[in-house]
Amino acid sequence: MAKEKFNMDNHWLPFPPNRHFREHPRVFVAADGMTFTTDDGRQVLDGVSSLWCVGAGHNRKPINEAIKKQLDTLDYATAFQVGNDKAFKAAEMIAALAPGDLNKVLFCNSGSEAADTSMKVALAYHRARGEGHRSVFIGRERGYHGAGFGGMSVGGIPANRKVFSTALLPRVDHLRFIHDPVNHAFINGAEPEWKEDPLLELEQRILPLHDPSNIAAVIVEPVAGSAGWYLPPKGYLKRLREICDKHGILLIFDEVITGFGRMGTNFGADFYGVVPDMLNFAKCVTNGVIPLGGVICRDHIYDAMMKSTATSPDHAIEFFHGYTYSGHPVACAAAIATLDLFKQENLFARAGEMGKVLGDAMHSTFRDLPNVIGIRCLGLAGAVELASIAGLPGKRAYNIFLDCFERGVLLRIAGENLVLSPPYIVEAGHIDQMVTTIADSIKRHA
Ligand SMILES: Cc1ncc(COP(=O)(O)O)c(C=O)c1O
Repeated sequence: MAKEKFNMDNHWLPFPPNRHFREHPRVFVAADGMTFTTDDGRQVLDGVSSLWCVGAGHNRKPINEAIKKQLDTLDYATAFQVGNDKAFKAAEMIAALAPGDLNKVLFCNSGSEAADTSMKVALAYHRARGEGHRSVFIGRERGYHGAGFGGMSVGGIPANRKVFSTALLPRVDHLRFIHDPVNHAFINGAEPEWKEDPLLELEQRILPLHDPSNIAAVIVEPVAGSAGWYLPPKGYLKRLREICDKHGILLIFDEVITGFGRMGTNFGADFYGVVPDMLNFAKCVTNGVIPLGGVICRDHIYDAMMKSTATSPDHAIEFFHGYTYSGHPVACAAAIATLDLFKQENLFARAGEMGKVLGDAMHSTFRDLPNVIGIRCLGLAGAVELASIAGLPGKRAYNIFLDCFERGVLLRIAGENLVLSPPYIVEAGHIDQMVTTIADSIKRHA
C-alpha cells in the first residue's frame, strides 16, 4: 500500500508499533466471509476472527439487517432510569446460554469494562453482606483482562503493566502461570496434565499471606488467550472453584475470548464443567460488529445486593455503577441477531469440529520446522511458539506476521507465539492455506 495514500497524522493506533506501521501500512477497506480486501485490492484471509470477535464470519446479512432495522426504530435511549426492549431480550438470550444460575446480565461496552464491572460487583457484594473487608483480588501471571486500571491490575502481562505499575490497584496478588514449557510444549486437543499441583501455591502461600477472609475474588481466563493460548492443566478450574467455595471467595471467569463458541461449547465454563460466580463477555456476542460487553452474575450475587437495600426507600439505588451505553439498543439488536445466527447455523459445534482440523494441521505441518518450540491447540484456536532471535524477543514472530500478511494471511502475534483463531465458518481449505503460508514463512525466517 502506498503510504502517501492516507493522512496518518491523527489516528494513533492501539498497540502496534506506530512508527513502523506508518512506513508499512496495512489497511483494510472491505470484508466478506473469511476474507478482507486491502486498499490496494489484495485479499487477506482472517486467521484470527479479527481478534476473536467475528465467529460467524464477516458481513453477515442477518446481523447487518437487524442493526439497520434497529436504527430506524429506536436508535438510542438513555440507559439510566429507563430500559429498552432489545436489552431485555439480549440479556434473556445470554442468560439462557450461560450455565447454572448465571442469570443476571450487567451490560457494558468492552472486555475492559467487563473486568472493572465484575471487580466492582465483587466489592459491592461483599460489602452488602457485611464483609467489606474482602478487598484483595487475585489474578494470574500473564492473564489479560483489558486496558482499564482494574483489569491491568489483576492482569499479568508484564509489558502491559510496566509503565503503569506505580498506579495499579493495591491489594492484588497473582497466581503462578499455568504453562510447563518442558512437559506441555506440544498439546493437541487435550488438557495438559501436571505432575505437581499448580494451585498448592494459592492454598499454601497466597491465601495465608492475605488471609482468605480478606479476599474478594479470583479472576482468570479459562484459557489464557492474549498471552498466546496457554491451556489450564486438567482439573485446575474445578479445584480453583473448590478452593474459592471453601473460603467464600468469588470466582470470576473472563470469557471475553472463550465465550460464545470458541471452545465448541457455549462458554469455557461449559467446556471445563465449572460454574463461576461471574462470567465476563464481549467480542463474539455481536460478531464484533458493534461494541458490547457484559458480566453475567449468579443469582446469589444479585439477591444479596437487592436484600441489603430491601428496607431502604424505593428511590434508593442498589449499585452505583453503569455506563451511558449499557445495553445500547443497536448493540443489543446486533447481539440478538448474532446469537440467533450462531444457533441457526450450529456454529459452536462447528467450531469444535473445525478445531480438530486446525489442531491436526498445525501439529503435522509445524512440528519439525526450525525454531518451533511448542504448539498448543484446543477449541478452534492454536499457537505455535518460536525460539527468539538472540537479544530480540518477539522479532522473529513479528517478521513472520508481516510476511504472512503480504502473502494473504492475517495471524496474531503474542510474544513469540503465532496464534490462529479463525471464524467458526472456516473451511479445511482455508486452514490449509493458513498453515502452508505460515510454515513457508517460518522456514524462510529460520
Ligand atoms: C480475556 C480478555 N479480557 C478482556 C479483554 C479486553 O477487551 P477489550 O479490548 O474489548 O476491552 C480482552 C481482549 O482481548 C481479553 O482477551
